[in-house]
Amino acid sequence: MKAYRSRILRFDPASQQPLFDEDGLLVVGPDAEGRQKVLAVGDHATLSRQYPQVPVEHLPGRIIAPGFIDLHIHFPQTDVIGAPAEGLLPWLENYTFPHESRYAEEAHAAELAPVFVDELLRNGVTTALAFATSHPSSVEALFAEAQKRSLRLITGKVLQDRNSPDGVRDQTEQSLIDTEALIRKWHGVDRLGYAITPRFAPTSTTAQLRGAGELAAKYPDVWIQSHVAENLGEVEWVRQLFPESRSYLAVYDEFGLMRERAIYAHCIWFDDTDRALMQERRTAAAVSPTSNLFLGSGFFDYAGADRAGFAYGLASDVGGGTSFSPFHTMLAAYYVGREGQTKTGLSLTPGQLWWQHTGGGAQALGLAGTVGNLAPGCEADFVVLNPDATPLLSRKTRGARNLDELLFAMIVLGDDRLIERTVISQAG
Ligand code: GUN
Ligand code: ZN
Repeated sequence: MKAYRSRILRFDPASQQPLFDEDGLLVVGPDAEGRQKVLAVGDHATLSRQYPQVPVEHLPGRIIAPGFIDLHIHFPQTDVIGAPAEGLLPWLENYTFPHESRYAEEAHAAELAPVFVDELLRNGVTTALAFATSHPSSVEALFAEAQKRSLRLITGKVLQDRNSPDGVRDQTEQSLIDTEALIRKWHGVDRLGYAITPRFAPTSTTAQLRGAGELAAKYPDVWIQSHVAENLGEVEWVRQLFPESRSYLAVYDEFGLMRERAIYAHCIWFDDTDRALMQERRTAAAVSPTSNLFLGSGFFDYAGADRAGFAYGLASDVGGGTSFSPFHTMLAAYYVGREGQTKTGLSLTPGQLWWQHTGGGAQALGLAGTVGNLAPGCEADFVVLNPDATPLLSRKTRGARNLDELLFAMIVLGDDRLIERTVISQAG
């Protein structure tokens, strides 16, 4: 057992409001299986009397907060960040597919897996839902590295058996055999989970989508991840490929790919019928604001999502996205929320932005109460923030008059320098 004394940020899961202990205590210790969990959290003066024997690490001037959850990121696009293109489809063709084809080499995937995991951890990301490539060896490399580091990671082999160049295109039957073999080998091992991963509707045949849906029904606690309604050119392409479908989102529904634990990146070019379908199927959106601004895709409609009541959380979408840092993603989400020309503009509060990258992401994954918060029973994944990390951060955070100002200063000015330490829940 061990305790940390510090300022502590956490959330009330019912109201989703931030809670802040000015002088808090976080007590962690192993559960029956030996995994480090939060045993107690709250006011230091009260809790320290209940745990008098527990060794305490005092972190003056620091803030402990839940580890961040990245709901959508691409392992093989670590080196694609910052590749300019005339929107999504040219970006895929000219940069992304050539890069991903290199992951056919096991040695390349093995070299990049620690780079990717290091980057997540130094940015305070402790749970990620990630695309690998169409090569099973890329999944093996990423799972092996995450397992070594005790990271909670969900990934899957990309399914793309058409409209894709040599080097990344897979074969329908083999792709489904490989997916099932990877599910059996890795899903539920330690902190690892499998996600059935059709890249997006245009790059899968109906046979592959049907097979993916059958696996999703056979393995109901496996995740599903894909992209939907990101870019207008893509939406038009899907309309031509699937003329019978009511909408792009409806294609996935027709193949049984909308259910709990299904997470779709972007969800921009939706109408209210699509939004209602998301809610009805308990399917969640991965809002990817730096990617949407970088590729000029559009703006996620927060008011529309809340009207329908479907779940969503924040994501980097590296390498369409421009940063691994959750602070950059939260700031971009604020810009996207403000945009009021194409949809209702609103001001997300700092508490809402932070929740979307922690507890909200956990809810979207069906992992509420397991990760994304610091409450008794949660896995002990957390970050230690140093609000004095840069001169301006220090001025702004020291001058903050209330919690909103403190959180906003970190969202607007923060990056990896703010993350002093990332603590990952270890197994006994
Ligand atoms: N749609 C299909 N593939 C991709 C991808 O790799 N990134 C993004 N942002 N959108 C996609
Ligand atoms: Zn993506």
